[in-house]
Amino acid sequence: MPTITFVNEKKEIQVPAGANLRQQALRAGVPLYPGINSVVNCHGMGTCGTCRVLITKGMENTARMGLLEKGRLGVSMAYIGNEETMRLACKTKVNGDITVVTRPSMNLYGENFFS
Ligand code: FES
Repeated sequence: MPTITFVNEKKEIQVPAGANLRQQALRAGVPLYPGINSVVNCHGMGTCGTCRVLITKGMENTARMGLLEKGRLGVSMAYIGNEETMRLACKTKVNGDITVVTRPSMNLYGENFFS
């Protein structure tokens, strides 16, 4: 069974292969959404972009990004500079061990921001 390690929450959970990251996080009581977005979100439809996470280890253990997810993240400023690690939790299938940073902050001053 794959293990998901949530860095901010210092929590590890085991999930069945192919599990949905958003569903497993919410089931484990891991807060995925910043502020009011815990109530105001698209509930896993992949359209609001508020379930963004960084997968800092094990990206190869997730299913490939689909067109909807790519399109949604592509219009997000938070995606700039995080293209290798950012995913939408609601569209991420977990096939192996991963390490996740929830509610990543936007680095407005990062070296890649305007490049
Ligand atoms: S819950 Fe809205 S994009 Fe994931």
